[in-house]
Order: sequence, then structure tokens, then C-alpha cells
Amino acid sequence: MTQRFTFPGTSLRVNRMGYGAMQLAGPHVFGPPKDEDEARAVLQEAVALGIDHIDTSDFYGPHHTNRLIREALFPYAEGLVLVTKIGAWRDESGAWHLRRDADFLRQSVEDNLQRLGLDQMQIVNLRMGGPEDDIETPMRAMRQMQEEGLIGHIGVSTVTEDQLARAREIAPVVCVQNHYNLVHRKDDAMIDALAEDGIAYVPYFPLGGCSPLQSGVLAQVAADLGTSAQKVALAWLLDRSPNILVIPGTSRRTHLRENIDAAKLRFTPSQSKQLYGLAKGQG
Ligand SMILES: NC(=O)c1ccc[n+]([C@@H]2O[C@H](COP(=O)([O-])OP(=O)(O)OC[C@H]3O[C@@H](n4cnc5c(N)ncnc54)[C@H](OP(=O)(O)O)[C@@H]3O)[C@@H](O)[C@H]2O)c1
Repeated sequence: MTQRFTFPGTSLRVNRMGYGAMQLAGPHVFGPPKDEDEARAVLQEAVALGIDHIDTSDFYGPHHTNRLIREALFPYAEGLVLVTKIGAWRDESGAWHLRRDADFLRQSVEDNLQRLGLDQMQIVNLRMGGPEDDIETPMRAMRQMQEEGLIGHIGVSTVTEDQLARAREIAPVVCVQNHYNLVHRKDDAMIDALAEDGIAYVPYFPLGGCSPLQSGVLAQVAADLGTSAQKVALAWLLDRSPNILVIPGTSRRTHLRENIDAAKLRFTPSQSKQLYGLAKGQG
């Protein structure tokens, strides 16, 4: 497994290789999975292989991912950190809607607690929608729920540097979950700044999400190492900064095992240089 990371100001310590549960829902993250037994088996094997950080949301499915987590893993192993996110909902057609008023956020936390069978969510990410969105009002609602004990610690997701700074004025932020991977590197400066403060950066779409990462350099490095592009992409994130925690999503045990194995990959200086150069168009 990977080196471990402690969320700042908390007693929550996790392996840097985690698991994202979004792929356990049905197609387009809507409805139940085709293979419920495999979904539960993925979760059980993840924990058996040392994963102790699982990212979820009650709007995955909706509800199905949390239901599967509870069915597969309850009572939860000591040390397992379940992180959820709130700030959105799905309608009956599967369309996504953003919402962040205090009543809705509270209801969302309560829905997560009830479906996961918990009294407190260890970490809750506040999911923002765009750079113009006001983060201060919903952060105050998050802080209130933290003071009441419904939330242990607060994270933020899909935020700009400005939103992050405003959020941190209202309450401590233990993690940031934004879109980032080998070829999508807008947050490079944010990652370095967060590393200095010991705050976790948890990239979503580490493998490109629904558009698998495509790059000649990535394919070449994978071929040189005799491994897959997915393993190289995950290993690069772990190499990128010690505050990066990865949560690759998969619905299959074969991919889960491969992803966990990525933590063992090491790059030569030349491979590192090629991979780090990818975002600058050097590949
Ligand atoms: N905060 C946010 O707004 C936000 C947004 C999106 C996601 N997330 C979180 O981030 C996590 C990761 O993102 P993601 O799941 O969307 O994208 P991802 O991890 O970049 O990629 C998942 C895709 O890669 C495939 N895959 C996984 N491992 C593979 C392997 N070894 N070889 C080949 N294909 C592989 C999966 O298919 P198979 O199922 O077939 O393996 C799935 O199609 C999510 O699970 C979720 O928890 C958060």
C-alpha cells in the first residue's frame, strides 16, 4: 500500500491510495448497478486490500452507492474513513441539479448518515458549481453542522483559489476535491499551496473519468514499464505531491487490483520528465 496521510487537525489517517465509489451506481451514475454482487465484492475487496478512504455521495444512484457501501461494509472496519459530498441532487430523469441552501445541505447530510448507518460523517465535501458561486453562505451552514456534530470535518469541491480562501476564513478545510489528472493540470499552483498547509488534494477523474486519458507519452511510458496507462496515471498522481490522495473509481475487482498495484510503480528520471511535461505540450 501507499504511504499514509493525516487530514490536518484530525485523527483521520488514511492510505494515499483510496477508492471512489461513484462507478458503483448504474450507467451515468443513475440507478442500481447491473451487477450488485460485484459492486459489493469490489467494496469488500478494497477494504481487504488496505483501502481505508472511500469517497461517496448520496446523489450517486441516487442512494444506491451508499446503500451498497452499507450492505457490503457495515459494521465498518476501525479506521475506515467515509467521505461524502453534498450540494446536488438528481431528478427522476437523472438530470443533475445544484443546490446549497442550509436546509438542503442539512437534509443531504442526514440522508447520508441514515443510508450509511452513521451518527456523524467524518468528512463532508461541499460541492460548488462554478467560479461565480458564493461559497460563504453554504460554508456557514457547514460550520453550523460541524458545531452540532453532524459533520466531523469539512472539505470543498470544484472550487477556485478564491473560493477556497473564502471558505477557509469561515472554517478549517481538510481536503479539496477538484478535477485534476496528468493532462488536466489547472490546479498545479493550488496543489503546491495546499501541500504547504498539509491539506489533502483529492483529484476527481484521475483516469479521465468517462473520457479515458489519451496521450502518446503516457502510452509510451506505460509500454516501457510493461504496464497499463491507468497505472502510470495513478502512480504519477502519487508522485506529484505528498498531499495528493487518489480515489480512482471502478465497478470491477480486476481494475481495483490493478489500480491499487499502481502504488508500486516507480519512474526513471527521464520518464518523470516526460510525464511532468505533458501538460506543457511537450508530449
Ligand atoms: N467532487 C466531484 O464533483 C466528483 C466528480 C466526479 C467524481 N468524483 C469522485 O472521484 C472518483 C473518481 O472519479 P471517476 O470514477 O469519475 O473517474 P476515474 O477514476 O478517472 O475513471 C473511472 C473510469 O475508469 C475506468 N477504470 C478504472 N480503473 C481502470 C483500469 N484499471 N483500467 C481501465 N479502466 C479503468 C472505470 O471503468 P470500470 O468501472 O469498468 O473499471 C471508469 O469508467 C469517483 O468515483 C467519485 O467518487 C467526484
